[in-house]
Amino acid sequence: MKQLIAGNWKMNGLLAAKAEVVALANALKGRAVPEVLVCPPATLLRALIDTVEQSPVRLGGQSCHAKESGAHTGDISAEMLKDAGASYVIVGHSERRTDHKESSAEVAAQANAAWRAGLAAIICIGETDAERASGRMQDVLAAQIDGSIPAAATAQNTAVAYEPIWAIGTGKTASRADIEEAHAFIRARIEAKLGAAGRAIRLLYGGSVKPSNAKEILHAKGVDGVLVGGASLKASDFLAIIDGAKLD
Ligand code: 13P
Repeated sequence: MKQLIAGNWKMNGLLAAKAEVVALANALKGRAVPEVLVCPPATLLRALIDTVEQSPVRLGGQSCHAKESGAHTGDISAEMLKDAGASYVIVGHSERRTDHKESSAEVAAQANAAWRAGLAAIICIGETDAERASGRMQDVLAAQIDGSIPAAATAQNTAVAYEPIWAIGTGKTASRADIEEAHAFIRARIEAKLGAAGRAIRLLYGGSVKPSNAKEILHAKGVDGVLVGGASLKASDFLAIIDGAKLD
């Protein structure tokens, strides 16, 4: 499968940010590109769908409720994201796990909801600084993999994003060796859990990916794409990151 370059805008972006997506879509038209995804706030999906239609850019949501509809004030279902033009949804981002106390079981239910609605899920996992420093990284990742990735995950419906929490928004990127070591562990655990279906699931790295480090990260062993926060907000930066992808 192609590498996946995904942008997570988080809680950033008003209607004026459409200009960035227009620039991105125009720059990528007719070019050989990896898979490119922009996950804006859900409020912008409808406004952006026409812009990306004739381009390789796809849209995604940043979270979804596990249920299809109902009395859940403020929540958005996977069906609503699909209806608004999304093809993907990020689930289990560390900011959701922290801010909204989402458990791995809830994340797994959200991934199932994504599939029910016809979306692919990007399931996020990652350890804190303290967990890494105390030698618990592998235990934490294993528990998140076992609890957050449903048994029906395949390369078509799922990507897994390794986002060490200490590298998110800090400018502190994990070293190539750290990334390769974590990805090898995650791949082995996913294969142990899912068997052959786990072999082709794309593993993305996220955490302070920027134009200056994207190429090295995207060429690291076991890296099938990146999940980019801050540097995905500007088309010029995001394009420079996309340029670092492997195209074979
Ligand atoms: P930054 O790229 O801003 O560090 O964010 C990473 C992230 O959380 C993407 O989901």
